[in-house]
Amino acid sequence: MTEELVARALALRQNAYAPYSRFRVGAALLAADGRVFDGCNVENAAYGVSLCAERGALASAVAAGCRDFTALAVASTGPEPCVPCGVCRQALCEFAPNLTVHCVAPDGEFKTFPLHTLLPEAFTLRRE
Ligand code: THU
Repeated sequence: MTEELVARALALRQNAYAPYSRFRVGAALLAADGRVFDGCNVENAAYGVSLCAERGALASAVAAGCRDFTALAVASTGPEPCVPCGVCRQALCEFAPNLTVHCVAPDGEFKTFPLHTLLPEAFTLRRE
């Protein structure tokens, strides 16, 4: 499943709308029930309106009634494995503090981190 998720994140970069940064990002979010939700970055002429790929996938999942996630793969056109930005880490933490995050490089190699190591001492209303 991990390889499928990684391949999907790489492919989703093609759908990115990133005319300003030219940095295309794809994200594939795996739900506990096996569904996979897609995201890509969607930029805007008003730069601050831009949406990251990870939060696009998350919003799509929540809109479909899904709130339980196990893994995320995120890939970009940059040379390094793509790590989620701080805002996306916080957004993902709301639903999946123990999420497994695969950070994918363009050649398909990836590094894996538990979300809580990317966002230590996270602010959350959950008590686990
Ligand atoms: N971006 C993402 O989609 N995810 C991240 O975690 C990092 C940044 C997007 C936002 C913007 O469209 C472009 O990458 C450059 O920052």
